[in-house]
Amino acid sequence: MTLENIKLDLNFVKSQFPAFKDPLAKDWSFFENAGGSYVPKNVIDKLTNFMTSTKVQPYADYPMSKIAGENMDKATEMFANMINAKNNEILIGGSTSINLYVLSNALKKFINIGDEVIVTNQDHEANISPWRRLSEHGAIIKEWQFNKDTHELEINDLSKLISKKTKILAVTHCSNIVGSINNLKEITKIAHANNIIVIGDGVSYAPHGFPDVKELGVDFYTFSLYKTYGPHLALLYGKEKILQKLPNQNHEFLNGQYPYTINPGGPNHEELVSLIGIYEYFENLFNHHFSNQNLTILEKVNKVNELIANHEEKLGNKVLKYIYERKDLRLIGKNIIQNKDRAPTISFTSINKSSKEISDILLKYNIATRNDNFYAWRCLKHLGIDPEDGVIRISMVHYNTNDDVDRLINALEKIN
Ligand SMILES: Cc1ncc(COP(=O)(O)O)c(C=O)c1O
Repeated sequence: MTLENIKLDLNFVKSQFPAFKDPLAKDWSFFENAGGSYVPKNVIDKLTNFMTSTKVQPYADYPMSKIAGENMDKATEMFANMINAKNNEILIGGSTSINLYVLSNALKKFINIGDEVIVTNQDHEANISPWRRLSEHGAIIKEWQFNKDTHELEINDLSKLISKKTKILAVTHCSNIVGSINNLKEITKIAHANNIIVIGDGVSYAPHGFPDVKELGVDFYTFSLYKTYGPHLALLYGKEKILQKLPNQNHEFLNGQYPYTINPGGPNHEELVSLIGIYEYFENLFNHHFSNQNLTILEKVNKVNELIANHEEKLGNKVLKYIYERKDLRLIGKNIIQNKDRAPTISFTSINKSSKEISDILLKYNIATRNDNFYAWRCLKHLGIDPEDGVIRISMVHYNTNDDVDRLINALEKIN
C-alpha cells in the first residue's frame, strides 16, 4: 500500500486529544492553531506524572530525582532524534521570542561595525527585532521585502542584498500570515556560499511536520513547542560548531558547556519532560497507520509528517478555493497547496467588512478564530492592511476535519 492510499484516521487522532471531549471545547471548530495547539493525552500524562512523583531537584541519586533527570535527558534526546539534531545542539527555552533574543545577544560577538544583517518583512517580529537591534552594535540592517503581487520572498531579491559584509540572515521557513513554505534549503545554500549565518524561524512550519534540520542545512532553527502539541516552551537548534564558539551567557562555571551556555538559566523541568508525550503521540500515530517497525525515529516521523501533509493539503485546498473564488474576499498568499509548498494557515480580508466584524460573526457559529496582525505587522503593512484590524486567519492542523471546513464555509456563505 502506498502512502497515498493510507488516510489519516481522524477518529483515532481526535481520541488522543482530551480537549475534543471537554465540555468547553467540544462543540467548537478550532481554527486558531497557529496561535497554539491542543495537547494529546500523552503530554498531559507525562506532565501529571512528573508533578505527582518526581517534582524534586533532578540528577541526585534518590529515585524521584534520578528519574526526573533521566526523563529530562530523554525528552531532549527524543526531540533531537525527531529533527535530526545532536542532543547537545538542542536548547529548550520559554518561547521563540526569548530564544531568538538570547541568540542575537550571543551572536553580536561576531558583528563588527559596518557588517550587514538581512531580515525580511514577511517574518513574525520575533525573528526581526532581535536582529534589527544589532544596529546598536554597528550593524547595517537590510530588509528582504516580499513581492507585493505574489506575496512571496523571491530568492533573486535576496542575492541582490548580499554583500561581502553580510554576516547574518534571519528568515522564516513559513510566514504565519502568507503561509508559503520558503525554500530554506536553497536560501541557506546561497547564504553559506557567502559565509552568512542563517537563522530559520520554523514556528509556522513545525506544526505541519517536524523539520530535518540537517537536510535544511541551517545554522539555527527555532519553533514553539506550544504550537506543536506541547506545553508553553520553544526549541532552538544550533549547529554544534557555532554553539561552541558562542559566549557563555549562563553561570561562569558553565564555560564551555554548550548548549547550556546560551540561556541564562535552565528550562521548566516538568514541561520539558512532558515533551516525551509529543514523541509518544507521533509514535502512536505511526503504529496506528503503518506496520514497519524497523525504522528510526526520524524515518517514522517523516512518514507521519507525510500522512499529516496529505490530510492538511485536502482541507487547506478546500478553504483556499472557496476564499479565492469569493470576489469580496482578498486571500493572502498562494491559492492552492501543492507538494507541501504552503501551510494550511490561511489569511484573508474582506472588502465589505472589517476583519473584526467577520471574526465576531464566525464566533456565533462556534468557529474559533480571530482577527489580528499576529505580530507580523511589517508583513501586513507591506500588504496595505491596517495592522490594528489585521486579517482573519484560519489556521488548521491535522486534527481539523472536513466537518470543520464545511462549518466554516457554511458560515462564510452567510457573510457578505
Ligand atoms: C512565525 C512565528 N514566529 C515566531 C513566533 C513567536 O513565538 P513565541 O510566541 O514562542 O515567542 C510566532 C508566534 O506566534 C510565530 O507565529
